[in-house]
Amino acid sequence: MDHIVILTGAGISAESGMGTFRDKDGLWTKVNLEDVATPEGFARNPEMVHDFYNQRRAGARTAKPNAAHEALAALSHEHPGKVTLVTQNVDNLHEAGGSQGVIHMHGELLRALCAGCGHQWLWLDDMGLEDTCPACDATGTVRPDVVWFGEMPYHMERIYAELSDASLFVAIGTSGNVYPAAGFVSEARMRGVTTVEVNLERTEASRLFDHHILGPATQSVPRFVSQVLRAEEFQ
Ligand code: OAD
Repeated sequence: MDHIVILTGAGISAESGMGTFRDKDGLWTKVNLEDVATPEGFARNPEMVHDFYNQRRAGARTAKPNAAHEALAALSHEHPGKVTLVTQNVDNLHEAGGSQGVIHMHGELLRALCAGCGHQWLWLDDMGLEDTCPACDATGTVRPDVVWFGEMPYHMERIYAELSDASLFVAIGTSGNVYPAAGFVSEARMRGVTTVEVNLERTEASRLFDHHILGPATQSVPRFVSQVLRAEEFQ
């Protein structure tokens, strides 16, 4: 296992209270995705979109990393090979749990993006239409630095380069519904890479994986990490 590429989704942060998107009580069962997670929704009602992300940002600021985030940080320190951590999550719980160099393909709640000039910077507090971009001085163009539907996820070239060099691909706490991330497992399989799914339960994508570790992330992820570090076979 020279190079482990890990993809995480909302399930890894669920036990930290961040909520998921498509589970029974998931975010997309309560709010309309087109209203709060598309550029068109933001153009239609920016105040509502800011309110939505202000609430999520406040939640992300107070959430604590759990045993799954910490186990992945330990893996990156203790594994003799390379570990690449790609997340679809916009929270910063991997970093809070001790991981470095996390690739946030869907952006970050605690960052801002200027829709006018493209400047990106750290943003911890509430955001609104009155805010000004520090780079171009425009007002009303500041938005959360999260990737919305219809926009290109970040760092795709880097992620495919890492996948092409992987010896193990692991998807943790993701339903495999959103592309391009949902396609990473097929990309890995095509290259003969061993694939492992770590999830609370089987998903629609389970058949694409060679091995499965089931259970809540705070238990299944530490189990996965200890199997890798002890070079145990996966079931
Ligand atoms: P989903 O809500 O689609 O899927 C969450 C997955 O986590 C499901 O497969 C659950 O079975 C699993 N899960 C739930 N609780 C768990 C736990 N305690 N331990 C382990 N697994 C658990 O979330 P994502 O797949 O991350 O994108 O969603 C992908 C993208 O869709 C998100 O990044 C977001 C969303 O729309 C954007 O907003 C662009």
